[in-house]
Amino acid sequence: MNTDALKKMAAEAALRYIQPGMVVGVGTGSTTNFFIEALGAAKIHVDGYVASSIATENRLKAQGLRVLELNATGDIPVYIDGADEADPHFRLIKGGGGALTREKIVASAARLFVCIADDGKDKPMLGKFPLPVEVIPFARSFVARQLVKIGGSPTLRSGITTDNGNVILDVTGLDFSDPLRMEETINAIPGVLDNGIFAHRRADVMLFGSAGGVIERKA
Ligand code: 5RP
Repeated sequence: MNTDALKKMAAEAALRYIQPGMVVGVGTGSTTNFFIEALGAAKIHVDGYVASSIATENRLKAQGLRVLELNATGDIPVYIDGADEADPHFRLIKGGGGALTREKIVASAARLFVCIADDGKDKPMLGKFPLPVEVIPFARSFVARQLVKIGGSPTLRSGITTDNGNVILDVTGLDFSDPLRMEETINAIPGVLDNGIFAHRRADVMLFGSAGGVIERKA
């Protein structure tokens, strides 16, 4: 089975978490795109959707789905999003699509975070995937030097400005033995807006598409 088929399987399984009348947070990326397609087909009468990126907002609207501002909804019942890596403690690396800051905000505003992924993202430990860090352009060089001091090798992602007008540094070589602490350490560097470690706001449910069907794990 190819990866896209596994992503689609996980995305379609997430529909079981969507009830009529809800406000639903929607992530960003290819797995989430399958979820948006499934939403368009399912025609569940939700109150509306909060998008974690402009790309997702456009896709939701293209399906005729109602997009709401997070500022207008308050806390939301459920957030559905993909990940680049997930560990057995439901901690994630996200931001491969560059939307990590808004994703973390919407995930944090959600009572339930359902993460959808192909089972290739299921890892014993985080850290193989380069960690995306969103940085204010003015601070790019300073932040890169601080990341080197804590053991990282940052690379500027070329050709991308985030929805917040910032740049992304992709960082390899960091120590992920304590993801919670690493998330805090990086976010304490002046000029960092946020980083792609989701340890403070972990997933509550993992849905992995696998050759044997959907694997569901609950925290
Ligand atoms: C975007 C993300 C995505 O959820 C993550 O990169 C996974 O993407 P995909 O579903 O395309 O594999 O964090 O910022």
